Amino acid sequence: MEDPILVIDNVSKTFRRPGQAPLKAVDQVSLTVGRGETVALVGESGSGKSTLGRIALGLLAPDTGRVLLEGRDLLALPLAERRQARVAMQPIFQDASSSLNPRRPARELMAQALQGQVEPDQAAARLLDRVGLSPGRDYLPRFAHELSGGQRQRLAIARALAMNPKLIIADEPLSGADVSIRGQVLNLLLDIKEERGVAYLMITHDISIARHFADRVAVMQRGIIVEVGPAAQVLTAPSHPYTRELVAAVPVLEGLEVAP
Ligand SMILES: Nc1ncnc2c1ncn2[C@@H]1O[C@H](COP(=O)(O)OP(=O)(O)O)[C@@H](O)[C@H]1O
Ligand SMILES: [Mg+2]
Repeated sequence: MEDPILVIDNVSKTFRRPGQAPLKAVDQVSLTVGRGETVALVGESGSGKSTLGRIALGLLAPDTGRVLLEGRDLLALPLAERRQARVAMQPIFQDASSSLNPRRPARELMAQALQGQVEPDQAAARLLDRVGLSPGRDYLPRFAHELSGGQRQRLAIARALAMNPKLIIADEPLSGADVSIRGQVLNLLLDIKEERGVAYLMITHDISIARHFADRVAVMQRGIIVEVGPAAQVLTAPSHPYTRELVAAVPVLEGLEVAP
């Protein structure tokens, strides 16, 4: 792949806990995300997806291997440059409240991301409108705890967008939202992909989300990527027995209705 946005190169991570056997959460994993591409990382709970996501985001150092964002090894960069480079990559987590300071109103949460804008309130209101918190200006004084789970996730998405990311790493972004609005949040993420050409690494235990969203699917089992390929191929004609099991057990997600 030419000039990918993200390269995860032979990354391993073992957790050592006193009195217990070491746990190889990620075992020599390589995965690439192209510009504007959506790669879904699927696998059951405990397979190492979030650990790999945190390593990709630079929140956790791998034992071995490298992560390249736009060709640059973030861990090898001096701190100031690393901060600068990381702006191109924004996380969305399952629980938006963990990344939104509860003591600051939306206006300030957005302002942190919109530093340098001439009219930060206007820019923030526009983005809030865009993610369906409208009218956006009415949400500027609101605190994260005053919002529903789905609204909080929209605020987290607006904040990520304010950074103008080229890559969004989303770890179970729909799991914190009410079942009834999951489809809406998923559609929002799809629209953003269309509008902005942003690339996604979409981490999910839910194959039906991968089916709606991904260009390629990587399947992780016990720290290893056992299968990777075009979504249509992996999800309709899986070659690995573990993928076949996952696909056969697809949960029917109520409320997840995606516009064609
Ligand atoms: N900080 C940690 N310390 C020890 N074990 C961990 C830590 N984080 C994750 N693990 C373990 O690593 C394995 C993979 O976890 P995780 O990456 O969260 O999987 P997934 O996101 O696929 O559910 C699990 O067995 C989990 O208990
Ligand atoms: Mg996880």
